[in-house]
Amino acid sequence: MTQQPTGRFITLEGGEGAGKSTQIARLKAWLEGSGHRVTATREPGGSPGAEMIRKLLVEGPVERWDGTTEALLHFAARREHLRSTVWPALKRGDWVVSDRFADSTLAYQGHGHGVERRIFEQLYDVAAGAFRPDLTVILDLPVEIGLKRAAARRGSETRYESLPIDFHRRVRAGFLEIAKREPKRCVVIDATGEIDTIAKAIADAVKERLGA
Ligand code: TMP
Repeated sequence: MTQQPTGRFITLEGGEGAGKSTQIARLKAWLEGSGHRVTATREPGGSPGAEMIRKLLVEGPVERWDGTTEALLHFAARREHLRSTVWPALKRGDWVVSDRFADSTLAYQGHGHGVERRIFEQLYDVAAGAFRPDLTVILDLPVEIGLKRAAARRGSETRYESLPIDFHRRVRAGFLEIAKREPKRCVVIDATGEIDTIAKAIADAVKERLGA
């Protein structure tokens, strides 16, 4: 689907403990205050079928899947999320804000686990075709800080957090490389500061890039 009447698709990306869920809630409230209808969603998940796949990905032992199988599962969940949630919302004219999207697969399964970019691009094409986010906000912070924050709210979803710190360093570098390759679509925001400061930086970026 390439037709977007008035809605926009904004994705928030970053490593563990970057504060994405807090910032998604803030961005949603701010966009609603500017008169937009907003659908806030997340990946993996964001629709009943995709939430079922999420459980397979974020729970259980680290060695459960290899990088390629993970990429396949993330793209299966993504296809279902797009079809059931994202595309219908954009069609209604909603602004859709998603906590993670395909850049997470390139950063985690690509840079983190070594899955080739060629495979990522093929899977992207199958699952989403020419569809792309209008804006991607990458929340950047040192992995030590992020992992400490994530551990403080640890539930059963520990599969990725249990990976070694070097894996998380590659993920962070991966997100920064994505932003460098696609500066028109991506903006990097320092996520070490106060919640209000980060929320303002995100709102400013949305205003500047999308005229919200
Ligand atoms: P969350 O903690 O932000 O909800 O994300 C769940 C985990 O899934 C997180 O550790 C990152 C990981 N993930 C990937 O590895 N690849 C992906 O494509 C996505 C969307 C998430």
